[in-house]
Amino acid sequence: MAPPVYLDNAATSYPKPEAVYQAVYDYMRLVGASAGRGSYQRALEADEVVYRARVALARLFNVRDAARIVFTANATESLNLAIKGMLGPGNHVVTTSMEHNAVWRCLKVLESERGVAVTAVPSAADGSLDPGLLEEAIRPSTRLIIVNHASNVTGTIMPVREIGEIAYRYDIPLLVDAAQTAGVLAIDVEEEHIDLLAFTGHKGLLGPTGTGGLYILEGINPRPLKEGGTGSESRLERQPDTLPERYEAGTLNVAGLAGLEAGVKFILQEGVERIRAREEELTAYALEVLLGIEGVTIYGPRDPARQVGVISFNLEDTGPEEVGYVLDEMCGIMVRVGLHCAPLAHRTIGTLERGTVRVGLGYFNTREDIDCLAEALRDIITEARGC
Ligand code: ALA
Repeated sequence: MAPPVYLDNAATSYPKPEAVYQAVYDYMRLVGASAGRGSYQRALEADEVVYRARVALARLFNVRDAARIVFTANATESLNLAIKGMLGPGNHVVTTSMEHNAVWRCLKVLESERGVAVTAVPSAADGSLDPGLLEEAIRPSTRLIIVNHASNVTGTIMPVREIGEIAYRYDIPLLVDAAQTAGVLAIDVEEEHIDLLAFTGHKGLLGPTGTGGLYILEGINPRPLKEGGTGSESRLERQPDTLPERYEAGTLNVAGLAGLEAGVKFILQEGVERIRAREEELTAYALEVLLGIEGVTIYGPRDPARQVGVISFNLEDTGPEEVGYVLDEMCGIMVRVGLHCAPLAHRTIGTLERGTVRVGLGYFNTREDIDCLAEALRDIITEARGC
């Protein structure tokens, strides 16, 4: 069998740059101490690891004060912190019909438990969003706008800059879910008027799982999601007000952050523009090849300029689960199938019942990987047709 082909970078990126593996190993083997908890040499080195990760991310997202980036376990935790920390009874929130369950399930809980009113602005069938519709949905009670930067189902890139201008004009905080875009698309929180940026470390940022963060604009003060030890101001019976401690109760994932820093450094060295160009080229090739296979239906924009390297599709009468199973078992090709934790997005694009097969391209994929996928899909279609 040909070597395995990893096409599930939208779930988590693989492989990572060599420096990421090395950084995790070096921290575990040579430092090993907790951060923010001691004054001996190696504890200070652990502090340094965390500090460097924060500074690298601040550079990547054009955040002036790195302390405004707080670390979490993943984008889901960041979104929970922002959403549950910002919204209370009588508040209204505007979001889109392409959101992941990390947003949608939070909102459903707040709707039933806190009486928060939710408007999900409908996207078009390719996932694209008209910012004018979003503006029309704003009410006097709107306290938050939430938009995913790119869909994890169709890859559709949302008009975050335009939405940022609207949010700024109405003085409503904008929360961007950058799970699929951090490290892949240029993000400038100042220029794009992003007040809260939720990101994960293990996808486009090329770090380990269990890492993520939330950028919080100065002046925005969500309630913490958790309370506990911060290694600072321990006499206080409540969380300290200072950032990042306010939101970082408990021992940090220093090993993960060591790897995350190495991933972000790799991205800064390569340049986000170059990474985007490479992924756009791979997406263009994948779309061209898949569109050329009779029996493949592709969802989403089908335009590499309007999407990240995420492509959802189906094959004639063969269910996505079966396609995924055959690709893996027979061909060593790894893709994700089903609803991708985003039923709302599937309802929008018309695949709620069936789900899709999803390819998640990454910086380290090659055209040959896409050729392997195409060949395997042709075989599955031929087999299913019984010819
Ligand atoms: N949200 C991730 C995905 O789309 C895990 O696969």
